[in-house]
Amino acid sequence: MKLFYNPASPFVRKVMVTAIECGLDDKIMVEPLALTPVSPSESLNADNPLGKIPALVLDNGDTLFDSRVICEYLNALGNGTLFPTDHTRWDNLRRQAMADGISDAGVVVRYETFVRPQDKQWDQWIDNQKQKFRRALAAMESEAAYYKDTVDIGMLSIAIALDYLDFRYADEAWREQYPVLADWHTAISTRDSLQQTRPADL
Ligand code: BEZ
Repeated sequence: MKLFYNPASPFVRKVMVTAIECGLDDKIMVEPLALTPVSPSESLNADNPLGKIPALVLDNGDTLFDSRVICEYLNALGNGTLFPTDHTRWDNLRRQAMADGISDAGVVVRYETFVRPQDKQWDQWIDNQKQKFRRALAAMESEAAYYKDTVDIGMLSIAIALDYLDFRYADEAWREQYPVLADWHTAISTRDSLQQTRPADL
């Protein structure tokens, strides 16, 4: 399988973490792409009309996207345990959605501030995006005492979203404000899948 990849993307990282958790990482070849909204890739567009990463080209030529679909596919392929089908399913998927929303707000602000010329940047819009992840951090602090040592796609996605905030918004200093979440994050971060996939610039 071929994964369109960038080591800074929290959504690509979800896929890599899932592949490692499910014992499938050696089945994935990565194609690194330095992608921004204004520097598209023709080869990616040919496989994913949305031009977004991650996109996973399967051995039969079909392409899967986005990260939620790819992660669930890999979990099924590797008989993983990241998408339980019991009563915990909806909380698990809600947490994945919350984490993806944090990552999404983080990535779009990164594009707005790093790629867009400074005189065209829209401060109120940037602030509204940051409020999304700040509200989500407060919401996670209020439930983090129940996260314990559960490992599913929701928990891994939260760890990845928090790491992306640390990577791009180190000045947010969320750990001081949210100590329960911070302790949980320290504990889950020892997992091999997270250790092996630290975010980095291409
Ligand atoms: C980043 O540089 O933060 C980034 C790169 C690719 C996808 C998402 C984020």
